[in-house]
Amino acid sequence: MHEINSNEFISKEKVSTETFSAEINSENKPYKPLIVAFCCNWCSYAGADLAGNNRLSYPADVKIIRVPCSCRVNPMFILRAFQRGADGVILCGCHPGDCHYTSGNYYTRRRMALLFSMLDYLGIERERTRVEWVSAAEGAKFAATMNDFAEKVAALGENKRLEDLRCKN
Ligand code: FES
Repeated sequence: MHEINSNEFISKEKVSTETFSAEINSENKPYKPLIVAFCCNWCSYAGADLAGNNRLSYPADVKIIRVPCSCRVNPMFILRAFQRGADGVILCGCHPGDCHYTSGNYYTRRRMALLFSMLDYLGIERERTRVEWVSAAEGAKFAATMNDFAEKVAALGENKRLEDLRCKN
């Protein structure tokens, strides 16, 4: 006769209950977009720091990646971020004329204009990518920009177009 091991039964029961409650919780959670923000070290990253020091809030789902200059961001980084599940990507750098490397952000501006037209071609909503110039003294602008961008991306919903399923864990 087959005996039922009570421990095994309880642990199986527990797992299924946990899984079930996790599913319920995930359905009830409000959708929060994942945003990747590339920030140049000399201005925008310092602006983000200032926003933090002044206790200006912006969504916790904004993941900042510090780069030496906005022109360090290869357009492939942005496509890769979308592939890996980002819902929006924002690139922040020094104001034109203020780049620490003199002309880096001019390259960024041209390059991003080309990338935007390519994203249009791929069917990625225009509001999912943005370029902003934020100086080290503009903590309030940084926080306001992130809040506004997160709100617009949230309104678009999840990015499914470029998502690479192989990157899902
Ligand atoms: S150093 Fe900030 S954009 Fe070049």
